[in-house]
Amino acid sequence: MGFPLPRWFCHRGGGKLAPENTLAGIRLAARMGFSAVEFDVMLSGDGTPVLIHDERLERTTNGHGLVCETPDSQLFELDAGDGERIPRYSEAVALCREYGLLANVEIKPAAGFECQTAETVVRLSCMLWQGAAVQPLFSSFSLDVLEIARDLAPQIPRGALFERVPAGWLDTVRRLQALTLHCDARHLADDVLAEAQVNGIPLLCYTVNSEKAAKSLFDRGVGAIFTDRLDLFVAETSAYKGLHLGG
Ligand code: G3P
Ligand code: MG
Repeated sequence: MGFPLPRWFCHRGGGKLAPENTLAGIRLAARMGFSAVEFDVMLSGDGTPVLIHDERLERTTNGHGLVCETPDSQLFELDAGDGERIPRYSEAVALCREYGLLANVEIKPAAGFECQTAETVVRLSCMLWQGAAVQPLFSSFSLDVLEIARDLAPQIPRGALFERVPAGWLDTVRRLQALTLHCDARHLADDVLAEAQVNGIPLLCYTVNSEKAAKSLFDRGVGAIFTDRLDLFVAETSAYKGLHLGG
């Protein structure tokens, strides 16, 4: 289980340069020369894994109501920005594989759907990524999701995702057999960073949208950042040679 850690993950597909969590965003990231994208995966009302961040449709689409209550027949008719549809997870994977993009698949269950979402996304991932040179990196704010991922697909690497890294995080990472630790850059504590470094666990920080902040984080030893500002970091993508993690 290895993962060639890139320097940048394009947040929600194409960051702020395209409608979030859309195929247009993923295409843009690839065309700009980035090697990795992050996107959020949730279940529709029919149990189909789709790319969307919020539990509700209003902010990112012209629809209304809960994603988990909206059938596919309605969901895929919605405009997710600039005429883009909400993508199926399967479409996003096909595109990543076509472009050779690394993917951080953030499994984002609606409240109460943790087990169902994890089981569906992980089982589907095993099929969709079969034969890929590099497996995706799963992450989730839900530890239940990551436990299910560990049990169903131990071969797909996992990242423990927190807003603020809690005390006892190392035990959690070990229990989950996670490869990486992810947190909100604004809450990154030096003691966490030091403990992660001592234990050889790369820290990935979101969401970093200024060059100054990115430089400071990399100087402190952060391994990778999630950014909405692909335009700021595009010049560096071709020069950077990634660090290969794990086996
Ligand atoms: O996975 C990193 C980041 O995407 C987590 O926050 O709310 O943008 O999904 P959010
Ligand atoms: Mg996310």
